[in-house]
Amino acid sequence: MFYITREVSESLSPLFFLSAAAAGSLPLAKTNQLARSYNHIARFYDALARLVFGNRLRAPQLHLLAFIPAGARLLILGGGTGWILEAIAAVHATGLQITYVDASDKMVALARQRPAGGNTVTFVTADAATAPLLADYDIVLTPFLLDNLTTAQVAQLVAHIHPTLTRDALWLNCDFCNTRSPGGKLLLRTMYVFFRALCGISARSLPDMDACFANAGFTTAYRAGFSNGFIQAAVYKCADAV
Ligand SMILES: C[S@@+](CC[C@H](N)C(=O)[O-])C[C@H]1O[C@@H](n2cnc3c(N)ncnc32)[C@H](O)[C@@H]1O
Repeated sequence: MFYITREVSESLSPLFFLSAAAAGSLPLAKTNQLARSYNHIARFYDALARLVFGNRLRAPQLHLLAFIPAGARLLILGGGTGWILEAIAAVHATGLQITYVDASDKMVALARQRPAGGNTVTFVTADAATAPLLADYDIVLTPFLLDNLTTAQVAQLVAHIHPTLTRDALWLNCDFCNTRSPGGKLLLRTMYVFFRALCGISARSLPDMDACFANAGFTTAYRAGFSNGFIQAAVYKCADAV
């Protein structure tokens, strides 16, 4: 097994931390708060997600793994506890170069313990919108990350990631959708109250993800609905490839 890890941690790297904040994307206090936010619930996040949603958050993510080609350079943003690394290794036992970014150092610490097969994983603890990244990613995966952000923050994130992609890159996104069902609306509202209180996220409602991708010149190559349309998996194609 060939398994390399390298951690770039904002909390351990004051220089990067200051430069990212100085770059203008987030005020320092906000960056600091973001880095800590999911730490409070990292250890029980998976159990909580399973309790509320069963397998419904995992199914769309597993569905999207079919879009990852062998040997790809893969960028995962907001991966959480890292269960997805094991799932990816079950499909691609080796040959992927993965950069795994999460703002929570506790989430990253949990992810580092996951077996990733023979894939090479570089861990980065940082805000995805300012994270130091490599170049030439073939695939980006954002699993239930963008709902944490406002539309302006999603636009900023897409602008940061776009230049790091290859010409034919695909962006795989799964997240919640606005729904007409009263149950779905109540669940979404409850989630925002919960995550704003516990994790300090700034969003109050779902951002307009499609508009952010379209404005950045991405086209939608694939879309599938799950849980009666409450969750969707989408594949956006890099504009440069059109
Ligand atoms: C709702 S959890 C989803 C975790 C995982 N993708 C899953 O489905 O199990 C959101 C994750 O995104 C991370 N996160 C939130 N905002 C972030 C940001 N701006 N940059 C990087 N990671 C972020 C959180 O720390 C958390 O691990």
